[in-house]
Amino acid sequence: MKPPARGRAAGKVILLGEHAVVYGRPALAAGLPLCLEAEVGAGEGPARLESDRHADDARVARLIAEAAAAVGLEPRGFVVRVRSDVPAGVGVGSSAALAVAVLRALAAAAGRRLVRDDELEVATRLESIFHGHPSGIDPVAAALGGCFRFVRGAPPTITPLRLAVPLPLVIAFGARPRSTGAAVMGLRARWEAERPRYEALFDAVAATVEDGTRAAEAGDLAALGRAFDQNQALLEALGVSAPEVEALVARARAAGALGAKLTGGGAGGAVVAVAPEPERLAAALGADGMRTIVAQVGAAAEEAA
Ligand code: PMV
Repeated sequence: MKPPARGRAAGKVILLGEHAVVYGRPALAAGLPLCLEAEVGAGEGPARLESDRHADDARVARLIAEAAAAVGLEPRGFVVRVRSDVPAGVGVGSSAALAVAVLRALAAAAGRRLVRDDELEVATRLESIFHGHPSGIDPVAAALGGCFRFVRGAPPTITPLRLAVPLPLVIAFGARPRSTGAAVMGLRARWEAERPRYEALFDAVAATVEDGTRAAEAGDLAALGRAFDQNQALLEALGVSAPEVEALVARARAAGALGAKLTGGGAGGAVVAVAPEPERLAAALGADGMRTIVAQVGAAAEEAA
């Protein structure tokens, strides 16, 4: 009997550089130790998805059809079953993880394995079904895990970091639903109206990414925290933060974080903090009713599949 065709992918956290990464600046991100697995089984009629986290809606149907086409399969006669501990819709890359895992599972069902650049190119296209015009950073984290510097491009420039120590992080999730697409489009309109101002802010973000990259490689958590704080101030100047994000960032700093900032699209959503005792910080935020994840993120990029 043939083994079941499976694909796996990770969740992600953007450490530094979101939004500016869309405009060609570098960003720093890491895979999270959260896993989404897709398995292909026999089914009747058009291919469909079974998942307790993702609706089998028109976008998911398109994802399956385009992933199947990319590996030369007819989108009929199979079911894709998804098991996931990546929370959906909160800025930790659930759509990219779904795209990468489904693509890998269908490639396995077709008896193929895509080379890395092809896999990332297709996965970025699949992710754009959910998010308009993404930079492509999420599928890289979902596919490779580890901690890496990213510059968009075709193909993107991906530099895995060699970390002295895993980075102790807490990710806290805001309660208000938010839209990455709306935050990206709003910033685009402001940039169109006042390019020199926004280009200068993107350059300042790039400098925090370089400082934070050096700090992460050296295991200098205090300097990484300062880079988080500087990046948060720039995200506020870019207009992609929100009062509840700033309140949560202030609360995290008061409860022992060395630095904290929004992560992902912003305008609400998740905050990432670096803390020497992440469990204590998570407990303090949890006592305020916040949902949190503690993650010691990656020593080196590795295949999540
Ligand atoms: O909200 P998320 O987790 O999808 O992250 C969006 C990150 C942006 O830089 C704002 C957009 C992008 O595609 O890079």
